[in-house]
Amino acid sequence: MEFVKPSNQMQQKIVGIIGAMPEEINGVVSLLSDCTQTSMGMRTYYTGRINGIKTVVVFSRWGKVAAAATVATLIHEFNITELIFTGVAGAVNDQLHIGDIVIGKRMIQHDMDARPLMPQYEIPLLEKTFFDCDQTQSAIAVKATATLLQNSHLHQLISKEELLAFNIVSPRLFIGDIASGDQFFATSQQKKQLIKQLPATLCVEMEGAAVAQVCFENDIPFAVIRTISDVANEQSHIDFPSFIQKIAGKYSKAIIGNIFSNY
Ligand code: ADE
Repeated sequence: MEFVKPSNQMQQKIVGIIGAMPEEINGVVSLLSDCTQTSMGMRTYYTGRINGIKTVVVFSRWGKVAAAATVATLIHEFNITELIFTGVAGAVNDQLHIGDIVIGKRMIQHDMDARPLMPQYEIPLLEKTFFDCDQTQSAIAVKATATLLQNSHLHQLISKEELLAFNIVSPRLFIGDIASGDQFFATSQQKKQLIKQLPATLCVEMEGAAVAQVCFENDIPFAVIRTISDVANEQSHIDFPSFIQKIAGKYSKAIIGNIFSNY
């Protein structure tokens, strides 16, 4: 007998939420009601409901392989119907500052290079260079983020002193290209090189475009939300851990909470 997987339309909505680090998802896990934990492949999957909607939350660990393995498990073991990635990124466009938020429009793997067999950045055999984020989900993420960035909302979550310690005054929302690769950007030289090659890139991180590829291959709509933790330069090794420890989780929890109230 042929096994027919129900189409996304026929299935009940199950939202997968991934961050790369515990700090990025702990606040989101706290939103789950009736939370249960499942351990699989060295990951802990937290299952429950947010605003009545079935949701699975997990941190993938860093890098493309870790993220791809995690999203494959979410799709095949937990039957998610859509995915949200929430986390931090290093800004490479100089308009962006720490505390700004980027909603991905297109995702690219900046370290994919099978030249001379294929053009630089093209994913072998998929004939794709960019993966498009889902427009409907991204529009909901934009609305949720805009709500957070209204000054009064942000200040309810994070004290003025904490924000000022990171020079966060009037954080802004950007929508555009995000580049992912197995590389932490910690020098201006790395940033310059990337911008020269991929000038439309707003920020860099280490998972999003891998998640995007697996979602594309499995027809799962996805959105990527990244808060700027550092500006991908010689200061990043200080800014990044400090931002992760003090701010990142609060942004993630608030944005995800706002998204679920817009569903
Ligand atoms: N995620 C957050 N900051 C980053 C950086 N500078 N490089 C790569 N990924 C990041």
